[in-house]
Amino acid sequence: MSEAKLFQDVIRGRRSPRSFLPDPVPQEVLQSVLEDARNTPSNCNYQPWMIHIASGASRDKLSAAFLNAAGQQSFTWDFPFDFDSSYGIYTERRQKQGAGYYEAAGISRDATGQRNFAVMKNLQFFGAPHVALLFMAPVYETVRVAGDVGMYGQSLLLSLAAHGLGGVPQTLLSFFAGTAREVLGIDPMYKMLFGISFGYPEPGNPVNSFPLDKASIEETVIFHN
Ligand SMILES: Cc1cc2nc3c(=O)[nH]c(=O)nc-3n(C[C@H](O)[C@H](O)[C@H](O)COP(=O)(O)O)c2cc1C
Repeated sequence: MSEAKLFQDVIRGRRSPRSFLPDPVPQEVLQSVLEDARNTPSNCNYQPWMIHIASGASRDKLSAAFLNAAGQQSFTWDFPFDFDSSYGIYTERRQKQGAGYYEAAGISRDATGQRNFAVMKNLQFFGAPHVALLFMAPVYETVRVAGDVGMYGQSLLLSLAAHGLGGVPQTLLSFFAGTAREVLGIDPMYKMLFGISFGYPEPGNPVNSFPLDKASIEETVIFHN
């Protein structure tokens, strides 16, 4: 098989799993994934990411603290997230994605029930044995740092997929950035962008493979000749 084909299988086959087996990832496999991810490009080679990975008792403590904070509506995000600011095609894509997920999970159309289910599952890391929290160092202008950290996230996700693992990026976890800093003892100068729960996706669970549209090249790329 050509290298391009191998890469295609990884990048086109990658999905965000939302159900994991409890089995932990062996340390040497995790090390190999992190060796891949550290090759990520960044503005001026600043590499302005700081990744905190919680497993075992730390993972459980973090999940409990997130659930508790959510119960008290205690949001400590570093960056706002406004669902209502989406419009048109963007709202359509979000709604389609949500509908596919809830149908695959067997959750009825009740909006409040769906929201509670999603928050709960996110904060339980979808059953994954590990969660990586991606923090931004205060190096230069925030949007560009976020771009770099986003690139790191994709490197991590693709390497996980190449190793037979899976990861789901989660902005929802960053709604509790202050809680994460408190539980893990993280310097407040680092701001949290998103988390990635990861491990072995549960095979055969429809929430890991429901159909999802991706915009065509025609919709998203404009050629200027
Ligand atoms: C930065 C980022 C944040 C995300 N946050 C969440 C989240 O909080 N909860 C969740 O269930 N999915 C989250 N997702 C997953 C997206 O819903 C998912 O990537 C998208 O629907 C495309 O599906 P795919 O990853 O399976 O291709 C996030 C994705 C990205 C890139």
